[in-house]
Amino acid sequence: MELIESPTELRAALGGADSVGFVPTMGYLHGGHAHLIERARAENDRVVVSIFVNPLQFGVGEDLSRYPRDLDRDRQVAGTAGADLIFLPSVATMYPAGFATRVDVSGVSDTLEGASRSGHFTGVATVVLKLLNLVRPTRAYFGEKDWQQLAVVRRIVRDLDVPVEIVGCPTVREPSGLARSSRNSYLTPEQQDRASVLFRALRAAQGAYARGAGRSEAILGAAREALAGEPAVELDYLALVEGETLAPLTAVVTPHTARLLIAARLFGVRLIDNVPLVPDPSGGTA
Ligand code: PAF
Repeated sequence: MELIESPTELRAALGGADSVGFVPTMGYLHGGHAHLIERARAENDRVVVSIFVNPLQFGVGEDLSRYPRDLDRDRQVAGTAGADLIFLPSVATMYPAGFATRVDVSGVSDTLEGASRSGHFTGVATVVLKLLNLVRPTRAYFGEKDWQQLAVVRRIVRDLDVPVEIVGCPTVREPSGLARSSRNSYLTPEQQDRASVLFRALRAAQGAYARGAGRSEAILGAAREALAGEPAVELDYLALVEGETLAPLTAVVTPHTARLLIAARLFGVRLIDNVPLVPDPSGGTA
């Protein structure tokens, strides 16, 4: 597994490729990342994974130095899943002295995660655009678990005519239903099981919709009832939104674009999850 730190070497290594699949990450790769890499492997000539813990997307009180890192394991996971190389730029490469530009995606960045984590999506948008410019992939792969991030990235690509296809990939879950995330490593196995209440709540809301509830109070009420059974949940938001714009919905009018999003702190760890609102929850969870 080739490790490349310099953008110039990266360009040289990718020269002549028919197509490049790109999976941007902050490392500490898990099964969700492996799925993205495998999908990129199946659809492209060359596959690049970037590992860059982006200081710009950490807010006040979010501890950058505590972010989990394990490069040896990352190399193994990326290699096994089919990556050709890891791009590992330094902070000085990404943000050299004098770096002054920020990418701000208004609207879709402002609510939910954006409201709770001030400046987060500006950091994400800036680094993603920069990485896309450095890697120049044919396709870039993002997990649907970070639904709002995916919406922000799609908006940038559309608004700024970035020549890349953005591929959203379904959330990978533990057998309990808990969405895979690097942050799960902060939880004990028992806490992880209990944290799966977030997914159960989303499923309860999907169930209410499938049984005929159409207004958001009824749909979200079913999720709240499920959450009430787990005292560890400190709910940040639970929202029914239009999936592309993240605009809140008071009722479901276009089932296939409606999305339920949740964020909560459990045992000191902030977790997020989301599902589409489809008539048959057993066939439509992401
Ligand atoms: O989802 C992530 O891991 C990060 O937000 C990303 C897209 C790699 C940007 O730093």
